Amino acid sequence: MNRHIAAIIGATLVWGVSATQAAESPDELNKAAAKVAVELCSACHGPGGNSISPTFPKLGGQQKLYLAGQIRAFKAKNRSDPEAHDYMWGMAATVDDSLVDGLASYYASQPPAPGKAGDPKLIAQGEKLFEKGDSTRKIAACAGCHGVNAEGQTIFPRLAGQHVAYVIRQLQVIQKELRKSPIMHGIITELTPDDMKAVAEYLQSK
Ligand code: HEC
Ligand code: HEC
Repeated sequence: MNRHIAAIIGATLVWGVSATQAAESPDELNKAAAKVAVELCSACHGPGGNSISPTFPKLGGQQKLYLAGQIRAFKAKNRSDPEAHDYMWGMAATVDDSLVDGLASYYASQPPAPGKAGDPKLIAQGEKLFEKGDSTRKIAACAGCHGVNAEGQTIFPRLAGQHVAYVIRQLQVIQKELRKSPIMHGIITELTPDDMKAVAEYLQSK
């Protein structure tokens, strides 16, 4: 091999190695993830995850572990309700595994959207169900897992400030087991459309 070419190959290898190392440092991965969030995800989820249309869930201030788990579930095609299939399977497939945690951190660190005022009667009805559940219908208190302020923790999603229509849609697909969620299935079997509307109004108001 000509010495000149060997030197170029050598330099390329060194550059290649350092580029890989740089891309793997947590800082670089977080930067790359934030770029994907701003350039791709925000088209639907809005800037900082503060979406306008209720088709797209708000992601700002969502729990990091929950977010990472959902992105991986879309990648693995395990979250398979119709909207997950139509919108998120393709999106998640374009995201490299190494960026999942960075995307989750990015949205977890964005300020959550403030609550919106709604119908006081529905909100009071939803608040009661959220805080106390209904033992006669085997509905556990939502607050037990989602937190007294619906702020969520670890794998339990934040629900405060979420769009009414998105919350209702998730309760419906989880109840029908189109979206598999073994922890939630037993709890919401008896939830009626009225309960769903009330609890969703309460959550959006938080
Ligand atoms: C074309 C629109 C669109 C784009 C772009 C998009 N999403 Fe989504 N995303 C959706 C929809 C719709 C849902 C709700 C799916 C459902 O109802 O199951 C969703 C749901 C999610 C959820 C679940 C939230 C929750 O509360 O459970 C996460 C996390 C998520 N998207 C992350 C991302 C990330 C990260 C990107 C960028 C790589 C992205 N999305 C890009 C449409 C989009
Ligand atoms: C025993 C714990 C537990 C209780 C009690 C509980 N949940 Fe959940 N909930 C979860 C978990 C875990 C998930 C995430 C499921 C997954 O990973 O797909 C979830 C998901 C949800 C989602 C989907 C959120 C999103 O962003 O897509 C909604 C809405 C929800 N719960 C509402 C409720 C309501 C309303 C109640 C009370 C009637 C309730 N939950 C009670 C554990 C619980």
